[in-house]
Amino acid sequence: MLTAKMQKALNAHLNEELYSSYLYLSMAAHFEAKNLRGFANWMRIQSQEEYLHGMKFFNFILQKGGKVTLAQINTPKIEWKSIAEVFADTLKHEQKITSLINKLVEVAMTEKDYAANTFLQWFVTEQVEEEANVEEIVQKIDMIGDNKGGLFMLDNELGSRVSAPAGE
Ligand SMILES: [Fe+2]
Ligand SMILES: [Fe+2]
Repeated sequence: MLTAKMQKALNAHLNEELYSSYLYLSMAAHFEAKNLRGFANWMRIQSQEEYLHGMKFFNFILQKGGKVTLAQINTPKIEWKSIAEVFADTLKHEQKITSLINKLVEVAMTEKDYAANTFLQWFVTEQVEEEANVEEIVQKIDMIGDNKGGLFMLDNELGSRVSAPAGE
């Protein structure tokens, strides 16, 4: 059983994770069109992971006997002026998701939903990792500046990212 408030909050977050997937897919398309294949690869995998995060919510709601309510997904941004801008947006987005996860934990606590609280702890940890990973890339981009060789090397590095099991 889920309380009405918990169910609504979990469904709202399911939508946020699907939007994240959509946003990173848009960034993947942007990089691919510019022949930045490594950056595009990183974003494709990021998009897949966000879809799997969404599916974790989808499955949890159903396991708890709740109702999944899929809603409209917002249109993501489609144009960026620089690589730095894409990753600045990524960091901002992950910080927003972290605060949404924290708010969800607060709902689980006030609703005394211990199972939801435990379920959400995985995401609390995941967000620490997500922010750290993106911050590292932001710093590297900052370091590289306009250096073409550095950019080429970072594109290669991000091109080696592979999908983790279960969106971890
Ligand atoms: Fe996520
Ligand atoms: Fe994320």
